[in-house]
Amino acid sequence: MQLNELVKEILTNNTLIKGVVSNKMKNSGKEFTKVDFKPVLLKDEMYIQFTKYIDTQVFHENANQFESEKMILEWMMNDFGQMVIFTQEADYQILMSKKGKYKILKKAPSKKMVDFSHNRKKQYILQEGTPYPFLVYLGVMTADGKVKQQRYDKFKQLNRYLELVEDVISEIDQDFIRIVDFGCGKAYLTFALYHYLVDVLKKEVEIIGLDLKENVIQFGNETAEALGFDRLKFYKGDIKSFNEEKTVDMVVSLHACDTATDDSLIKGIQWEAKVIMAVPCCQHELYKKVKSDSVNGLLKYGIYKERVSAIVTDALRASLLEQNGYEVEAVEFVSLEHTAKNIMIRAVKKDIVKDDSKHEYDELKRVFGIEDFYMERNL
Ligand SMILES: C[S@@+](CC[C@H](N)C(=O)[O-])C[C@H]1O[C@@H](n2cnc3c(N)ncnc32)[C@H](O)[C@@H]1O
Repeated sequence: MQLNELVKEILTNNTLIKGVVSNKMKNSGKEFTKVDFKPVLLKDEMYIQFTKYIDTQVFHENANQFESEKMILEWMMNDFGQMVIFTQEADYQILMSKKGKYKILKKAPSKKMVDFSHNRKKQYILQEGTPYPFLVYLGVMTADGKVKQQRYDKFKQLNRYLELVEDVISEIDQDFIRIVDFGCGKAYLTFALYHYLVDVLKKEVEIIGLDLKENVIQFGNETAEALGFDRLKFYKGDIKSFNEEKTVDMVVSLHACDTATDDSLIKGIQWEAKVIMAVPCCQHELYKKVKSDSVNGLLKYGIYKERVSAIVTDALRASLLEQNGYEVEAVEFVSLEHTAKNIMIRAVKKDIVKDDSKHEYDELKRVFGIEDFYMERNL
């Protein structure tokens, strides 16, 4: 069978479980080094979701069957030397030579059947129709499990957050996990995390939520008590002066304002937390510090300057995490249509420091004329 026929047949018959395109050819002009793909149901339509890997970052893209076929074939004919495709009927390995000759090897299927009627539900950790006590208590769901219309964005945000936790939680290979959630606010995300770890994954946890505001701490403790979340405690305090004697495995900081994010990252690094997840917001620090003749075109308009300085802030933060042995990804938290504060820095401690991290960091500071950076100064 020809490669184009095989790809068409797999996509048309909806038998695809997962595929991986790899072994980038030397002469390829593509930025990404690998692509995974799998079927997804979006609004009851079947699409293929592609995950492209560029350095330590991943980018997702959905395409219909026709576009997917075209992309996969183009990559195989021009850019990559290998593809494996797992289907419900067989596993295929396609080996492509530099001259465009290929071999298709077929084996018995090694992956389980995917039932697409369930697939859409499987994408969400919290499912509509299931009344979760914490979501009912917090007014996101009705008692019969219906998500209230005006709370739908919150429901989606909670699911997305748990998805991002799910991807990395296995990095903390322990039954007992200690977590500090800095700037927890009203703590919807903290309650969701507790529910996921304790009720779904059956882990033992101790979670601390910290915030400056008395009222949210009181709300958090009362809610935790009412829900029987007995290993979740809230304390009033400033991140900077919060000290912890015991090991902290994971540090979370979601939408903590300005340099409160830096303080959270610093704590995470100092405690050698295995996982750090931060969604920065209000990155004001560098707005007044960035200056540059060479990229003045980026900085001379207020709104661009604001966005560029926010991105430079986060890139410097990510680099400092890298320089301290973390593998860092910048991932979309919720879609941009809901909030501009949507990029999560997700870091996993690997104790490997890339050779070029420090140089990249110094160059960024040099190009943007940054002489002083809060996180570096306080680390
Ligand atoms: C925008 S809210 C985010 C709440 C929650 N994490 C979320 O994402 O839904 C930011 C919270 O961070 C808290 N915060 C800001 N700076 C802080 C600091 N230095 N120490 C502790 N909490 C802080 C604020 O009081 C506020 O409740």
